[in-house]
Amino acid sequence: MEYSHSRLLLVCSVLMLCLCSGVAKCDKLTSELTGDFYDYTCPGLYTIVQQHVFAAMRDEMRMGASLLRLHFHDCFVNGCDASILLVGETGEQFARPNQNSVRGYEVIDAMKADIESVCPGVVSCADIVALAAAYGVLFSGGPYYEVLLGRKDGLVANKTGAENGLPAPFEPVSSIVQKFGDVGLDTKDVVVLSGAHTIGRARCGLFNNRLTSSGDPTLDSKMAANLQSLCTTGGDNQTTALDVESADVFDKQYYQNLLSKKGLLSSDQNLFSGAEDVVKATTKALVQTYSDDGEQFFMDFGASMVKMGSIKKTGVPGEIRTNCRVPNK
Ligand code: HEM
Ligand SMILES: *[C@@H]1O[C@H](CO)[C@@H](O)[C@H](O)[C@H]1NC(C)=O
Ligand SMILES: *[C@@H]1O[C@H](CO)[C@@H](O)[C@H](O)[C@H]1NC(C)=O
Repeated sequence: MEYSHSRLLLVCSVLMLCLCSGVAKCDKLTSELTGDFYDYTCPGLYTIVQQHVFAAMRDEMRMGASLLRLHFHDCFVNGCDASILLVGETGEQFARPNQNSVRGYEVIDAMKADIESVCPGVVSCADIVALAAAYGVLFSGGPYYEVLLGRKDGLVANKTGAENGLPAPFEPVSSIVQKFGDVGLDTKDVVVLSGAHTIGRARCGLFNNRLTSSGDPTLDSKMAANLQSLCTTGGDNQTTALDVESADVFDKQYYQNLLSKKGLLSSDQNLFSGAEDVVKATTKALVQTYSDDGEQFFMDFGASMVKMGSIKKTGVPGEIRTNCRVPNK
């Protein structure tokens, strides 16, 4: 008995060594998230998420952007734990940066239902959101990056956490850098991930601070006039492309826009324009790099997405939610 037990242990460790030698499979031993987490328990996961994202984007191209933002707003509050999906008055959905703004909840619900019917109780909502974001980027023409999986879903949402932790477009770069720093991301991540604004839309209420009568010297005057007329007619809820030149295509155009004063949000344009300090010198140089080198942008974007997707979950360990909108009983 004793003998066979230790022999089993030996076989196991040899097997681990073999699996681990040189291959990325070793991730399992060193970090929580891995690329192959569901390879044996739910290999159909990828196809299901892909099909749902594809269909949703065929109906409305913007949905790719919305799913990307959903993942960002999930990760910045309590880590990537699908806390943003939890319903209820104290939910993050009702926090200022999210209410009437974050989209894609129904698309996630539909994927989850299909995944549950194939492999019940196995795949976390947080992982589904992370994968959906990656396909949203890919199907918009952006880079492929390997999504690491194995997240757990949180038991609680944190509305205050969302209001305090998510950056606002009116904040100075230094304060946005600070908020990224609070979750382990650096100045480069701010510039790279802001590149997500190469796709998607924003509402007038979030950039009309730049449309004052005196004008914003860092906003192209023709673009300002167009926005002025759009927002006067449409009101605060009127939306327009974050990337005025190629709204639905994931490319380096976002950075080129900043060079020509065509960033939509103050937080976008400020990465390049305005008073200079040490931080601004860094962001400005990076904007210049990415405006020129789309391949570098794509590579760095994938790396920063993996970093953002690995923001550690806070609080109790968590669970695999059955219904993404409510914790399990
Ligand atoms: C750097 C600080 C950031 C600020 C201040 C910011 C702010 C905003 C604002 C105000 C909107 C428009 C919301 C609305 O109209 O309701 C928006 C949209 C968007 N944001 Fe950001 N954002 C930031 C970083 C990010 C990051 C890190 C990502 C993802 C990696 C991201 C992805 C998006 C996307 C894809 C949209 C369009 C969503 C859609 O069309 O549904 N943003 N952002
Ligand atoms: C919610 O987030 C705030 C930070 O804004 C934090 O102080 C608080 O502990 C969090 N609450 C929970 C229940 O995680
Ligand atoms: C914007 O839309 C929200 C949600 O539909 C609504 O509650 C709000 O009154 C609208 N605001 C304006 C200025 O139309």
